[in-house]
Amino acid sequence: MRFPNSLKVEAGAFIGYTPVMSFSDPERDCALCPRLTAFRAENRRTFPGRHNAPVPAFGAPDAELLIVGLAPGLKGANFSGRPFTGDYAGDLLYETLLKTGLAEGTYAARADDGLCLKNVRITNAVRCVPPENKPTPEEAGNCRPFLIREIGAMPRLRTILALGLIAHNAVLKTLGEKQSAHKFAHGAVHRLKTVTLYDSYHCSRYNTQTGRLTPEMFSAVFKKILERRA
Ligand code: URA
Repeated sequence: MRFPNSLKVEAGAFIGYTPVMSFSDPERDCALCPRLTAFRAENRRTFPGRHNAPVPAFGAPDAELLIVGLAPGLKGANFSGRPFTGDYAGDLLYETLLKTGLAEGTYAARADDGLCLKNVRITNAVRCVPPENKPTPEEAGNCRPFLIREIGAMPRLRTILALGLIAHNAVLKTLGEKQSAHKFAHGAVHRLKTVTLYDSYHCSRYNTQTGRLTPEMFSAVFKKILERRA
């Protein structure tokens, strides 16, 4: 079964203007990480009227492909309430999904743009925005139960794409796989017990502006996923 031809779900059915929380999401005032809780309180004061809460996944839970990012950006996903939406990294991610047929519609950097993911779901290893975009290993550990539930709630999941080392390690730990047996590398493919894990450098501003990740390199990872699933 090819990804784009299978399930198609309107984004608005799952997440629209108001992010829809599911049982796999932390509560709005989750207090598992003291540093992130304090940062969230500060952001609610500084930026009232923005999402400023854990960011739920985007896309249908019965998708076959799960993309795992790092954590919401302050003025991107943390403002919009949708992963990568309004973030610099989202420009490249959503452009690539549209180009490869894994999304339909228009990406307008807002959660109500009507963008439709096709058999894809997107989440983050850490649900709350961290200062300077850097979650600590402890924070990633605190957030892991939500990734475990997220993955457990995807009955048709076959493929995971990890964006960056932290997401890669979070996925391996979530699935009970050995990190020593599966080293992160851009373009690497890891056959795990239950799913196939693909790695890409994170599509961050830093990685794209330094040339570590080009749009062509990023598209090639998605093409590889689609070819192998065809
Ligand atoms: N925005 C997200 O939602 N996740 C990332 O990893 C980066 C930006």
